[in-house]
Amino acid sequence: MRTLNVDLPDRKYPVMVGSGLLASSGRLLAVHGFDSPPIVVTNRRILKLHGTSLLQSLQGAFGEPPVIRIGDGERFKNHATLMTLYRGLFRARANRRSWILAFGGGVVGDIAGFAAATFMRGIPFVMVPTTLLAQIDSSIGGKVAINVPQGKNLIGAFHQPAAVLSDTDVLKTLSERELASGLYEIVKHAAIRSESLMRYLENRLPAILRCQTREMTHIIVESVRIKAGVVVNDEKEAGLRMILNYGHTVGHAFEAATDYRRFKHGEAVAWGMIAAVGFSLQLGFLRTGEAERLIGLIHRVRPLPSLKGIRFGPLWNALVRDKKFRSGDVRMILLRKIGDAEIRSGIDTAALRRFLREFLDSDGNIEARRG
Ligand SMILES: NC(=O)c1ccc[n+]([C@@H]2O[C@H](COP(=O)([O-])OP(=O)(O)OC[C@H]3O[C@@H](n4cnc5c(N)ncnc54)[C@H](O)[C@@H]3O)[C@@H](O)[C@H]2O)c1
Ligand SMILES: [Zn+2]
Repeated sequence: MRTLNVDLPDRKYPVMVGSGLLASSGRLLAVHGFDSPPIVVTNRRILKLHGTSLLQSLQGAFGEPPVIRIGDGERFKNHATLMTLYRGLFRARANRRSWILAFGGGVVGDIAGFAAATFMRGIPFVMVPTTLLAQIDSSIGGKVAINVPQGKNLIGAFHQPAAVLSDTDVLKTLSERELASGLYEIVKHAAIRSESLMRYLENRLPAILRCQTREMTHIIVESVRIKAGVVVNDEKEAGLRMILNYGHTVGHAFEAATDYRRFKHGEAVAWGMIAAVGFSLQLGFLRTGEAERLIGLIHRVRPLPSLKGIRFGPLWNALVRDKKFRSGDVRMILLRKIGDAEIRSGIDTAALRRFLREFLDSDGNIEARRG
């Protein structure tokens, strides 16, 4: 197991990563000061796949934990589920000294975290993330939220977990696509901050795709280190934290233009990064070799769903709905080189429009467009 400490100005917490952590979760959390059973928030599927070892271990350390089950999927990350959660907390006789353990992917983490942030004005919570995306992204940084009809994650809070426990074994039951979707976010972390992580991904990809413990642990720890490093310097998203949105502005537009059906989030981000790289190339900001490295790795992870049939109009409309595009000065996160991203202001939106039209026309094939 490897432990990394996230050191925020007003709080410090451990992120533990490794094999077999579910079965030692009770002991690991007892060491970190917990002395009563948590209230576990999860869903049926995760409970069935991985619940036994977690619950047994918690029971051994603290006594039997109450379990609140929520629906599985993004559509349950809403107000109705939140109310179910609060009711479950009251039923379990939760009080100010209770704590929540969020056991699941980003959906469980976000909504259980928001319940923890708001129940009795805030109780501690621990994350036990079970998707790769949740282990390297949503469990780090303290953003918790629910979706409302007006948009995703619009009601939320900043509430840092007391500890994060990421068991690499649970990733073995993810679908190939789900795993790849998380991997693209790791590729993003490498692209914006770490050439050495990029090299590691390039060299060890087959072992990573087989979820081998040593490789998984390494890329999760490095990825968490990158995200945490950015967050620590900018907890409330004033500036630097924006670079974590690399590939996301255009990525979100791809998701919206396809009604959130065609792409997993990470896949849309991967397309967003390819578009950003293509645009940088066109502007002469990035060397061809660097661009090819990033695009090559993305395509090696897993073939992406095609862009065919996406029309420019809806894509552009989705893009300009993004708050970053509404201000006069349009900014975009672009790479200077692998491992070095910058926030560039004064983006020429006419040039971006032209680029994206061609990008769609060539089904995202930057090579073809240049040739
Ligand atoms: N708070 C943040 O900073 C932040 C950052 C990124 C994403 N998010 C949020 O995270 C959510 C997406 O998270 P996600 O991709 O983990 O989706 P998810 O939580 O819906 O999980 C995806 C699917 O995998 C299943 N699953 C979970 N663990 C599994 C396992 N080990 N084996 C097999 N199946 C498993 C889930 O039940 C679900 O069906 C979004 O709501 C997004 O807004 C938040
Ligand atoms: Zn993302």
